Amino acid sequence: MAVLSRLLLSASVAALGVSASPLSRRDTTCSSVDEGYTCFPDIAQNWGMYAPYFSLEADSSISPDVPTGCEITLVQALTRHGARYPTSGKNAHYQALIEAIQTNVTHLEGQYAFLKTYNYSFGAGTLTPFGELELYQSGIKFYNRYESLARDNVPFVRSSSSERVVDSSEQFNAGFQATKNADTLSNKTQSAPVINVILEESSTFNNTLDPSICTNFENSDLADDVQATFAGVFVPKILKRVQAHLHGITLTTKDVIYLMDMCPFDTIARTSDGSELSPFCELFTKSEWEQYNYYQSLGKYYGYGSGNPLGPAQGIGFTNELIARLTGTPVQDDTSTNHTLDSSPVTFPLNQALYADFSHDNGMEPIFAAMGLFNGTKPLSETRVESLEETSDFSAAWSVPFAARMYVEMMTCHNDSNEPLVRVLVNDRVISLYGCEVDSLGRCTRDDFVQGLSFARSGGNWASCFH
Ligand SMILES: *[C@@H]1O[C@H](CO)[C@@H](O)[C@H](O)[C@H]1NC(C)=O
Ligand SMILES: *[C@@H]1O[C@H](CO)[C@@H](O)[C@H](O)[C@H]1NC(C)=O
Ligand SMILES: *[C@@H]1O[C@H](CO)[C@@H](O)[C@H](O)[C@H]1NC(C)=O
Ligand SMILES: *[C@@H]1O[C@H](CO)[C@@H](O)[C@H](O)[C@H]1NC(C)=O
Ligand SMILES: *[C@@H]1O[C@H](CO)[C@@H](O)[C@H](O)[C@H]1NC(C)=O
Ligand SMILES: *[C@@H]1O[C@H](CO)[C@@H](O)[C@H](O)[C@H]1NC(C)=O
Ligand SMILES: *[C@@H]1O[C@H](CO)[C@@H](O)[C@H](O)[C@H]1NC(C)=O
Repeated sequence: MAVLSRLLLSASVAALGVSASPLSRRDTTCSSVDEGYTCFPDIAQNWGMYAPYFSLEADSSISPDVPTGCEITLVQALTRHGARYPTSGKNAHYQALIEAIQTNVTHLEGQYAFLKTYNYSFGAGTLTPFGELELYQSGIKFYNRYESLARDNVPFVRSSSSERVVDSSEQFNAGFQATKNADTLSNKTQSAPVINVILEESSTFNNTLDPSICTNFENSDLADDVQATFAGVFVPKILKRVQAHLHGITLTTKDVIYLMDMCPFDTIARTSDGSELSPFCELFTKSEWEQYNYYQSLGKYYGYGSGNPLGPAQGIGFTNELIARLTGTPVQDDTSTNHTLDSSPVTFPLNQALYADFSHDNGMEPIFAAMGLFNGTKPLSETRVESLEETSDFSAAWSVPFAARMYVEMMTCHNDSNEPLVRVLVNDRVISLYGCEVDSLGRCTRDDFVQGLSFARSGGNWASCFH
């Protein structure tokens, strides 16, 4: 039934037509969501973690295609939930600001005129229809990419417990199964994927997809401080201009960020395919979006990535689970893993070919950091926008947009070596691995890859969570 309703939704998306409201803009040239959303790329790819997933295939210096002569034998996917409404805390801030503008500002003109009648009405933290579609499409894409395995295997699925993450897992499963049903060569006797394990999000539950038991990390303000510094650099000029259009209220730096946030949130809520740009977006220039994007990258890097001493600590548990799956050996970890779950073949089997886990941006950045995926990135400047070249390809939008996905692939190749090879793709871009000897196709042997994950295998700096 889920599948049927998805198909109906897809049909209605196609039929949505071209009637954009007067002050919004519609992109009729953007590629379909399944190809990787690329509507309004100049703006939308600069929305940090509020960017909808876009494929980085064209930015991958190594082809993401499965190398010829090789056969994928195991895949671990890790996927962020799709586009969502603002969380309840943010909802309150955004709504208060818009109501204050509507109540206090006497003349709303030109690009600001839409605010007179703008109706703020969002759900809280749940997926938008577009977000559901993103995940459904990610299930289709996963099936097609790994068709030879997907035909005869059912993914083992784990989800962090938030409603939006669980819903995302279900959409992925539905997209996967609809594709499998339509594939004449697939094994029709197999059951559809289900969520096999839900990991509770709480300070007393060991959840490798979204840890919250590292006490000192939970109390860290580093990212907020760094973001405030950078906001002090780029917001004043914007504030001055916007303030000049909004007589009657006194805007703060935070208000400017909120008005910018409204652009992605209003866009992803507007239509089921994300193709209509919100009028909030038009209030800011392209270079201001680049600054906003960098502001969000600072939040991720100093909040959850290598810029925070305890960022990588929280990705250790998952990395050790990944090692267990790649090597078919029991999990060895004393950080955020739940030993009860991970020692049972029902909740942590070691003989599967396809693993699909679902999480949040703040669950994924620490995992990328623990795996050393961005070990080439130097501490990010707090006062100046750095290019992707300068950050060695680290950014929030490139790593954890809505519906972001990492694929860890293990493959055997028809050459004289029997040791399987491993490589990692983030949003279709092959990552240059650190810690192991990488070949020209971005791969390391499994042994070498696991050797290189010494930070996680040794427990890293987990002890610093508590003293
Ligand atoms: C605002 O949107 C909500 C939800 O769509 C709707 O119920 C309400 O009638 C709208 N209000 C106005 C003034 O348009
Ligand atoms: C199809 O899947 C079932 C259940 O997993 C399995 O028992 C059977 O061997 C599979 N058939 C083929 C042809 O692979
Ligand atoms: C571990 O998982 C089990 C099974 O879901 C659960 O009952 C238990 O509370 C969990 N413990 C911790 C510390 O996460
Ligand atoms: C809006 O006007 C009211 C009444 O004059 C005032 O108390 C309030 O601070 C104003 N709000 C903002 C955000 O400026
Ligand atoms: C949960 O994690 C803590 C901290 O690493 C550990 O001491 C405890 O044994 C774990 N509990 C379970 C059920 O795995
Ligand atoms: C087989 O793969 C390994 C690992 O990448 C590589 O070192 C070796 O050169 C390959 N052998 C051939 C014959 O291509
Ligand atoms: C990444 O850098 C950290 C910090 O220097 C180090 O502990 C870790 O081993 C590196 N990871 C890899 C895979 O090289």
